[in-house]
Amino acid sequence: MKLVQTLIQSLAVKSRKLLRFAGVPIDLVPNEHDVLVPICHLRPYNLPDIQKHLLSLNAKDRYLRFGYAANDEHIKSYVRSLNFERDEIYGIFNRDLQILAMAHLTFNIQASGTTTQQMAAEFGVSVHSSSRGRGYGYHLFQRALMHARNANAATILIHALSENAPMLKIARKAGATLERDGAETQALLKVPRGSLRTRIAELFTDQYAQTNYSIKEDVKNFWYFLTQVQEIREGVRAGRHQSAE
Ligand SMILES: CC(C)(COP(=O)(O)OP(=O)(O)OC[C@H]1O[C@@H](n2cnc3c(N)ncnc32)[C@H](O)[C@@H]1OP(=O)(O)O)[C@@H](O)C(=O)NCCC(=O)NCCS
Repeated sequence: MKLVQTLIQSLAVKSRKLLRFAGVPIDLVPNEHDVLVPICHLRPYNLPDIQKHLLSLNAKDRYLRFGYAANDEHIKSYVRSLNFERDEIYGIFNRDLQILAMAHLTFNIQASGTTTQQMAAEFGVSVHSSSRGRGYGYHLFQRALMHARNANAATILIHALSENAPMLKIARKAGATLERDGAETQALLKVPRGSLRTRIAELFTDQYAQTNYSIKEDVKNFWYFLTQVQEIREGVRAGRHQSAE
């Protein structure tokens, strides 16, 4: 296990150096352990994991996330409605490839003035209660912002309850303007234009996340294989023991 951990760690350090070379830290700040958080694109095959993550949120978190008291049926219907073509859906996985945190960036075309049209994005996020305070919410927002810049979105909007201190902190830190309307607050961030550098940074960021996911997948499959071998060995041993009696 130590060997696998060391391999993963040294790969992470090397990848970080490569990402720094590509300019990624401009948009993605490492956490307090100096580890770049791998943020993956979620795909339709992740739907069962997305549903499991959202159903694991308690009533208060569901209210904070969706703005209403979402029951299991509401969540299932939200998951069924996810549009992977139009929107960006991101996830952070643990070693067992369970979703610890996810974010949803939706895009809408808005009329601006008489002729031009603007693209406006909206951001929603949830972090599993066991993984809060590690910067995942912040990193997911920064990842979404990176994409919004490259997709030429004009603004990102976040609907949050005024009591939602961590969410408002993330928005404020990114430079959003906060407008409080009683129990609700709207945070609006003007998105700076993307550049060649932010596009390259996004490519490297995705590659890093994909590599990290593949390593976790291989490690998981390897442990599964070892468990199977162990079970077969135990079965054979028990069989020998029985025939010897
Ligand atoms: C909001 C939420 C996504 C934040 O996720 P998180 O990963 O715990 O947040 P982070 O660790 O990135 O912390 C962000 C900031 O909030 C601060 N913070 C964290 N918890 C806090 C709390 N309970 N009170 C005040 N500030 C808090 C952090 O210190 C950090 O500030 P800093 O950068 O100055 O240190 C998470 O609490 C959550 O999933 N809530 C339920 C769903 C929800 O509210 N979604 C948002 C509406 S779309």
